[in-house]
Amino acid sequence: MLNRRNFLTAAVGVAAAGGLAACAKEDEGGSSSSDGNGGGKKITLGFAQVGSESGWRTANTKSVKAAAKDAGYTLKFSDAQQKQENQISAIRSYIAQKVNVIAFSPVVVTGWDAVLKEAKTAKIPVILTDRSIETSDDSLYVSFIGSDFTDEGRRAGKMLETVLEKAGHKGAVKIAQLEGTTGAAPALERAKGFKEIMDADHKDDWKIVVSQTGDFTRAGGKQVMAAFLQSNPDINVLYAHNDDMALGAIQSIEAAGKKAGKDILIISVDGVKDGFVAMSEGKINGIVECNPLLGPQLMELVKKVNDGETVERRIKTKEGDFLQEQAKDALPTRKY
Ligand code: AHR
Repeated sequence: MLNRRNFLTAAVGVAAAGGLAACAKEDEGGSSSSDGNGGGKKITLGFAQVGSESGWRTANTKSVKAAAKDAGYTLKFSDAQQKQENQISAIRSYIAQKVNVIAFSPVVVTGWDAVLKEAKTAKIPVILTDRSIETSDDSLYVSFIGSDFTDEGRRAGKMLETVLEKAGHKGAVKIAQLEGTTGAAPALERAKGFKEIMDADHKDDWKIVVSQTGDFTRAGGKQVMAAFLQSNPDINVLYAHNDDMALGAIQSIEAAGKKAGKDILIISVDGVKDGFVAMSEGKINGIVECNPLLGPQLMELVKKVNDGETVERRIKTKEGDFLQEQAKDALPTRKY
């Protein structure tokens, strides 16, 4: 566990300031007249978002903006359009603006040490949200709040067992995997967790015959699935790392004259409304939920960090698993 005081003590010198890359979009949201600091100075939070690649991301952005507003913080928000260099520029800009706390959802896992050292030098604590990073220096961030993606991959594997059984599937399981953004934590870890289940229990009967990134987008899922179907027309399972790619893939499956959810069984991750609609129509067989509504918990954490309180190093999001028969009932209650 690391608190802000430890973090600040460890920090020395002054940060190098950088401008925000021209292509990253920055806006200010969440500002309101109440202060967010228990009567003290209003907290300014710099949030560097990945982009707007998926329904999940849209819901996450809304949640962060609304929660910052409710908490009375000044929010400086930037959309990196899925480019690491834009996120790095945004973080440098927040350092230059001397925000109180920086939070960001890293587009990929590697390559953050230099900019996070600059934040540390400037004595600005950093919180990771949604996605983790790889670093040899754990003092570069105070806490990481988000899902356990490896476990989501395992849950997807277990869910496929159930779905195959329900479908009465016999014979070889030829899996196409639509990966998330290359090098991103959810892509690496969802693949890893799923493979764990395959290696443990399905070495002989399951095979990933094709696997490629669709960059977490609907267009990517559509395009890559069309190519998969050309090269491997006998695929009978799709494991998509998010709903948006599954929804894009469904378009290609139907264009190829096949039935999504029947000829090709589909498991995806997220649980966005459109995913639930497709599941209630029988086109997706199961969804592993990944909760994007991190805003309120993040704002509590920001307050604690800003107040110098000790915070938990890792805060995991709670989420569920959904099969087709639950989709219709669950749909009206979906919040994103
Ligand atoms: O990091 C979370 C992932 O990023 C979501 O599963 C995906 O939809 C998003 O783009």
